[in-house]
Formats: sequence, structure tokens, C-alpha cells
Amino acid sequence: MSAHGGPPQAEAHVDLDAYRENLRLLGDLAPASALMAVVKADAYGHGMTEIGRAARQAGADWLGVATVEEALALRSGGDDGPVLCWLASPGASYAAAVAADVEVTASSVGQLEEIVAAGGRPRVQLKVDTGLSRNGAAPEEWPDLVEAAARARDAGRIEITGTWSHLACADDPEHPANELQERAFRAALDVVTAAGVDPGLRHLANSAATLTRPSTHLDLVRVGIAAYGIPPDPRLSIDLPLRPALTLRARLAAVRRVPAGTGVSYGHRYVTERPTTLGLVPVGYGEGVHRAATGRAEAGFAGRRVPVVGTICMDQLVVDLGDLPADRGDVVTLFGDGSDGEPSATDWAEAAGTIGYEVVTGLGGRIRHTYGGRR
Ligand SMILES: Cc1ncc(COP(=O)(O)O)c(C=O)c1O
Repeated sequence: MSAHGGPPQAEAHVDLDAYRENLRLLGDLAPASALMAVVKADAYGHGMTEIGRAARQAGADWLGVATVEEALALRSGGDDGPVLCWLASPGASYAAAVAADVEVTASSVGQLEEIVAAGGRPRVQLKVDTGLSRNGAAPEEWPDLVEAAARARDAGRIEITGTWSHLACADDPEHPANELQERAFRAALDVVTAAGVDPGLRHLANSAATLTRPSTHLDLVRVGIAAYGIPPDPRLSIDLPLRPALTLRARLAAVRRVPAGTGVSYGHRYVTERPTTLGLVPVGYGEGVHRAATGRAEAGFAGRRVPVVGTICMDQLVVDLGDLPADRGDVVTLFGDGSDGEPSATDWAEAAGTIGYEVVTGLGGRIRHTYGGRR
């Protein structure tokens, strides 16, 4: 229903059963490890509160987010289980994180000092960069971070609850960086134990590593994209019946029969070759639908694939329905689990020259999220 009681013009329907089942299947791959559901960035565009709740129902021991604010939003939404956050610029609300019993990550001595200064007794996980060259202490800074954390622990100022890192190339199982990062992580753990510190939860694996590299499962796996039913990389062969949880659909705002030779949308990048029926779909890049998919994307209509034609605009796009019967209000499915013949988010990613992560995470604008099972 829309805010005014009618059916939504455009909706992202999230099948929470699919999400829960995907997460269970992924957790089963690492039965000896704790399971973290990664729900940052509004659960990759799926809705963080609802997905967080579904994740707990499916057995997630942990929820993972990037920022303190996201962790606090989970608390506001009613979640009271273990939550870890891992990305903060100076001035982050560590005191609020401690008060909300949220675990924080320290990637540098400076950051650790800020966390300690927030007071209370923060539960801190230490992050080492093993080769991604992004967040995490660089190898040469790692011993200093570990020593500083040991001193803060000895002074009763923090609890050290985990040691972790993130992989750069897990979606390419043959990439040599995977083995090198595992080795670097083991060396980083040796530094921790040599400093008399219990590393706590040791973790390294994202979705791709959970699927393909059991040696990375360690004490906990951090599963994001695959639980939403989207492969980390379309080339990765996945032996699990994962189902896309999100379906993006909209109701036709207009239907028009046009003659051959009709130019469609800005720039007339598409001109009809024969008399045909055009359907106007009320979503565009204002909703996060990638304009770069112009000329390549498809949609599902009445169980069939139809081309998205002409330039994708801010508020709308056009589908060529050929001779299919169509009326205003009929539903067009842009992507989903394929049950209406529609493409997947991965297909849209290929059409737009991006990755499935970006296709779902970027959704917003006027789209209304709805939740339930399959529909
Ligand atoms: C630190 C960290 N761990 C785990 C994940 C989950 O990755 P994926 O969605 O590939 O499973 C992410 C997401 O990028 C992340 O930033």
C-alpha cells in the first residue's frame, strides 16, 4: 500500500523467507564458526531493521555494520544482540556505542586512544590490514596497536574481543592474494599472542570466502551479499540454491501504441522498427536504477522478458511490450528471483557495467519497501 492507501507505484519487495533461508544455508557451510550477517548500508538497500531481525531469526550470532550510527540504528530498531562496527572518522560517537553495548573496531593507535577516551569499558576488536590496503592497521603499525591495546586492557580501560581482517580477492578463488592474506593474518595473530593478548574472535571471511575457502572460516564468518541471494561475482560457481531476496517492481503509469519510426526518450537513442506498445515504468535513476544500463537492460512483464528501451531517465523508463496486451497499472518487474521471467540484479549489473552489490544498495528515492514472503 502507498502512503495514501493505494498500491505502491514502485516497490522493492523483500522476501524475508528467502533471506533467512540463504543465511541458514551459508551458516551451514561454516558450522563451527559464529555467523555474522552484514547489514550495513541499509542492509545493502534491503532495509536494515527488518533484515537485522530476520538475520537473528535465522540464527545470526552477530550483526555487522560500518558505522557507529548504523549500529545505534539497529539498537533503536530493537536489536539487542552482538553488533560490531568497523569504520569511523575522528569524532565518532564511541561513548554512545559503549552505552549501547556495541563493539567497535580499532585500526590504529590514534583510533584506539579515541575509543579509550570515550570512557566506560569498550569492547574492542583489532583490525589488521593483510593486503587490502584499505582499513586496518598496516603491518608495520600492527605491533604498536597490539601493545597499546594490551596496555589499555591491563589498565581496565578496554576489553579485547576480536582480531580480524578483510580479503581483497575472495571472489576470485584462484587469486594468489587469498593465500598471502591468510598467511599475513596468521602472522598478525602471532603478534597478538606474543604480546600476551587473547585475540578473541578471529575472523576473515566474507561471502565469497565463506562459499569457497573453508580455511578462512576461523571463529566467525561475515556474510553479506550472498545472504541477499546475489553472487559475489557472477563467475563464481555456487553450489547452493540461493534466492534473490529483493524484487523491484512498478506499475505502468502509461501504455501507448506507437507506429514504426517512433523515437523513444531523451536523445531518441531507440527508434521503434515496427508498430509496438510502449509501457512507461515510473522508476529511474532517482530510484537508483542505473542509467548506464540504457540500451541493454531487460525487465519481466506477464512472465516474459521485455527490453528496456531508450534512455533511462530520472523518474521513469520505457519498456517495449511488442504486441503483448497491457494496461495502465499492470506490473513490470525490473529484477527479482526470476519467477516472473524477470532478470536478476546481477543481469542489471552486467547491463550497467557494475556489480550486483551496487544495483541493490543504490535503491532509494521514491521506492517503497515492502516485506513478507514470496509474492
Ligand atoms: C568488513 C566487511 N566484512 C564483510 C563484508 C561482507 O562482504 P560480502 O557482502 O562480500 O559478503 C563487508 C562488505 O563489504 C565488509 O566491509
